[in-house]
Amino acid sequence: MSQEILAVYPGSFDPPTNGHLDIITRSTRLFCKIIVAVTDNCNKKHTFCLDERLQLLCESTKALKNVEILPFSGLLVNYLEQINSFVVIRGLRVLSDFEYEFQMALMNRKLNKKIETVFLIPDQSYTFLSSSMVKEIAMLGGDMSGLVPKCVAKELKNKYQKNEYTK
Ligand code: PNS
Repeated sequence: MSQEILAVYPGSFDPPTNGHLDIITRSTRLFCKIIVAVTDNCNKKHTFCLDERLQLLCESTKALKNVEILPFSGLLVNYLEQINSFVVIRGLRVLSDFEYEFQMALMNRKLNKKIETVFLIPDQSYTFLSSSMVKEIAMLGGDMSGLVPKCVAKELKNKYQKNEYTK
């Protein structure tokens, strides 16, 4: 049954990390198709613009056949309805993620009672990993190997190479 379900993995992906890729890969084994839905929330200042985030995710997931990368704006529940999906995938790394994720899952369910949120746990080597931490490491000239896909590491270097923090 779940093999026929289209599931949506929403997020900012600013930038995508190996933790995100781990969740995407795990999702592809559970659902027939995964849409990685990249938010363009104008209230949030992103380091990478929407096009950059879409392109980095496309490049990083090109080996995965049942994954599509698409932008979305507005309420997630409305987007799910538009594309005829009722499953949201979210990663849970550590206990401190839980409160926010629990709140979001229940709010999405309040907005549309058909929505189910499926939480996946990434490999334990990614439990400490976050996009903001990766950006800080890049900004301070640290080693990003194993943290992000190669294309993301390259873009982070380009962005922060001339940054005053690395001088
Ligand atoms: O990667 P993030 O920033 O943790 O992802 C959060 C995201 C994009 C999934 C969440 O903010 C979201 O769904 N935004 C869309 C607007 C919305 O539906 N808000 C109500 C959710 S309770």
